[in-house]
Amino acid sequence: MAAVKIGIIGGTGLDDPDILEDRQEIHVDTPYGKPSDAIISGRMGPVPCLLLGRHGRGHSLPPSRINYRANLWALRAAGATHVLATTACGSLREDIRPGDLVFLDQFIDRTTKREQTFYDGAGGSAPGVCHIPIAEPFCPRLRQALVACACELGVRAHAAGTVVTIEGPRFSSRAESRLFGAWGAHVVNMTSVPECVLARELALPYAAVAMVTDYDCWRDGDEPVSVEKVMATFRQNAAKVTSLLVTAVPYIAAQDWSRTLQELKDGAEASVMLPNH
Ligand code: ADE
Repeated sequence: MAAVKIGIIGGTGLDDPDILEDRQEIHVDTPYGKPSDAIISGRMGPVPCLLLGRHGRGHSLPPSRINYRANLWALRAAGATHVLATTACGSLREDIRPGDLVFLDQFIDRTTKREQTFYDGAGGSAPGVCHIPIAEPFCPRLRQALVACACELGVRAHAAGTVVTIEGPRFSSRAESRLFGAWGAHVVNMTSVPECVLARELALPYAAVAMVTDYDCWRDGDEPVSVEKVMATFRQNAAKVTSLLVTAVPYIAAQDWSRTLQELKDGAEASVMLPNH
């Protein structure tokens, strides 16, 4: 059975290093620059894990300035075989309530200024052009593992959901928020794209736990989303995400991932068109 090392990307309020034992900081540089922070290497029980705070220490990076490529590259360079990402999100549906968890299965990309590929034609980058298929942007098997663990814990969770990723850092206008709901999306955040796309280029199984912190701004008579509201919901619910990770990591590590990893590798390799010499 292939050895498992789980990379955890911690979103706003979800990057507490205390979830790992035997912690050690690793500083990784990549051909794409520096990741958001040092990676914390450690263990959850017997399972080796790597933790990276997406927004850097003290939440210093806005979503558009996060070096998503360096973050994913650094995790893989440090040996990650899987990536579990946590993210805050706003709900676009009545029945998806603040405090709920949503295991994302689709995205609608409303970002405008982010690098979405490692194969960008620049010197020092990966050679060729990569047209990565992204019809299924999140790893279904890893998502199902999270769903099973959430069920076991009895937390309110949604087994699938479409996220609209906006560029930010501003929140959406009411018209945008209602449009996203009319498009069939379930939640809105600022970071899932390009993170899941880059993980796919690196053939890393990637799943996202989205913690609902607010109803964005589409509801009549409701206070629109604010940083205060997001952080307050976080403080009340962050423990749910932590217990989910603590349950999911050994559950994932107990499975044989050889076939899934090979399929992702074959898929990523087949997507690269190398220059003709
Ligand atoms: N993150 C948390 N809540 C959000 C919202 N309403 N819009 C975008 N990102 C968010």
